[in-house]
Amino acid sequence: MDHDFRLMPEQASSLAGEVDALYGFLLVVSGVISITIAGLIVFYAIKYRRGSPADRTVKQTHFLLMEVSWIVVPFLLTMVMFFWGARLYFHQTRPPSDAMEINCVARQWMWKFQQPQGKSETNELHVPLGQAVKVRLISEDVIHSFYVPAFRIKQDVLPGRYTHAWFRPTKPGIYHLFCAEYCGAKHSGMIGSVHVLEPRAYQAWLSGASQGLTTAEAGHELFVQLRCNSCHQGGGAASRGPALENLFGHEVKLADGSTLIADEAYLRESILKPVAKVVAGYQPIMPSYDGQIGEEGILQLIAEIRSLSKADQPQAEPEQPPPEEP
Ligand code: CUA
Repeated sequence: MDHDFRLMPEQASSLAGEVDALYGFLLVVSGVISITIAGLIVFYAIKYRRGSPADRTVKQTHFLLMEVSWIVVPFLLTMVMFFWGARLYFHQTRPPSDAMEINCVARQWMWKFQQPQGKSETNELHVPLGQAVKVRLISEDVIHSFYVPAFRIKQDVLPGRYTHAWFRPTKPGIYHLFCAEYCGAKHSGMIGSVHVLEPRAYQAWLSGASQGLTTAEAGHELFVQLRCNSCHQGGGAASRGPALENLFGHEVKLADGSTLIADEAYLRESILKPVAKVVAGYQPIMPSYDGQIGEEGILQLIAEIRSLSKADQPQAEPEQPPPEEP
């Protein structure tokens, strides 16, 4: 990282240029309007100051063209801001379907990341250049905010609810990660770095680690350890709990007659508060696992359940080039 003086942070993601263009437009429009108004105030204050010989007779009471234009021009400008901003907002909040997914658990005062292949790191995040990355965020305590200025992304990290941020890094380097929500005494120390590596270097970094379990495999271990399989096995009428195969992303009928699509929020709620949404045909007998597993464990269990759903495979495990033989 260089230490030159900069007006703006580096542009290191596919969104950065778009955000800066909109920001520049807002700056120019507000600058022109502010300078014009301030300039006219000063000009007329001097021209019509007390005792000045300026002509004060009223010659014209209406000037239709001017009145119409000061309504129509600002209206058009603000509509441009609205549609441009909305378009960018939608782009920013919708990760592309080929995005690689990384889990992030925030707590006072650290960031814990887990790669799909299972490798985890604290306050550091390694990502491959050019690859869209979706970061799934959740907090174990208070509200934090995931902020990477060089990528022009900032997203609140909430306790009890998944949020996400996505970016496509366009420049190798090391970028600041900040917490942008006051979260206690060491909020200012809740910082980290995002390392954008060339795809080859990323693969080398990834395989350089101890060959641990993938997130889904760790979830499977937890699944067996918590004896989830004693109820959720095979499905069918004999099972005490609904089958988990092909559950993720599919429709679920609930006991109260309503239906929903099984997503991460639903799975998380069903692990922590099983009676909240009971599946039709089953009894509300599942115990709560609140307090028994942390957010990382819940994310691992969700990864395991997702891996049982064939339709979801490509998203759960991003395509990896075969590891190079030494
Ligand atoms: Cu976490 Cu501020």
